[in-house]
Amino acid sequence: MNNTGIKEDANVILEGVKIGYSINNPLVEIPHLEIFPGEIVAITGPSGVGKTTLVRTIAGLVSPISGSVRVFDSTLPHRPPRGSIGYIPQRLGLVSHASVLHNVLLGARAGHSSALSIISSQKSRRSAIDAIDRMGLSEKMHEPVRRLSGGQQRRVATARTIAQSPKILLADEFLSELDEKTLDKVQNEVIDYIRKNNSTLILVEHDVSRATSIADRMLVIDDGRVNPFLSHTTALEVGK
Ligand SMILES: Nc1ncnc2c1ncn2[C@@H]1O[C@H](COP(=O)(O)OP(=O)(O)O)[C@@H](O)[C@H]1O
Ligand SMILES: [Mg+2]
Repeated sequence: MNNTGIKEDANVILEGVKIGYSINNPLVEIPHLEIFPGEIVAITGPSGVGKTTLVRTIAGLVSPISGSVRVFDSTLPHRPPRGSIGYIPQRLGLVSHASVLHNVLLGARAGHSSALSIISSQKSRRSAIDAIDRMGLSEKMHEPVRRLSGGQQRRVATARTIAQSPKILLADEFLSELDEKTLDKVQNEVIDYIRKNNSTLILVEHDVSRATSIADRMLVIDDGRVNPFLSHTTALEVGK
């Protein structure tokens, strides 16, 4: 629901989807799932159940075994517009010898015009510096990422994705390795970004009480007592 009270069209639609890496052994079955602009959806469930795989499938990095995955107006394998999906992976994929600023600029450039104009490069720089500041890393801006702690590196990856200004943000355990105070700051900054931009946040969070406190909706992936090969997926409405 946007602030005019009119429900917008879903920007993620999964229909009859099975995900996984082997046709003979699907991890999760999702009969129907729609996710809307402005929504925060938390995916939770035991380790190894397929949470990361689901996020990577929505990001277009893993093909579904069957069914259709639509993001904006593109059905996979067609990809949505460049920069519209931001992904904070569980394994961060930072350029470790490069500075914090350099890493965040990579995200900012993905989100701005591909034309290498001076204006778009100034805009990218401004969004990168702003995102670094939001993550409380201004003092580390010119440090190589490899000198940062695990939690600081996770904040660099979050800044990189925010600087891209995505309409859909996929965040896989992005709050892990953070101390309690930093965790609240990072969580609040990301939620603030989502609310202000009417973007969608799909996050994987193993801490169920935190997931419940952040999310509008929870997607619980259970390890399939019903069928030994398929996990059981339910969407629960969580009151806010
Ligand atoms: N690239 C891959 N190829 C084959 N199997 C994989 C691959 N990545 C993950 N898996 C397996 O898929 C299962 C689900 O993994 P994952 O989605 O990472 O689970 P979760 O995020 O819920 O812990 C695990 O058994 C894992 O070993
Ligand atoms: Mg995972």
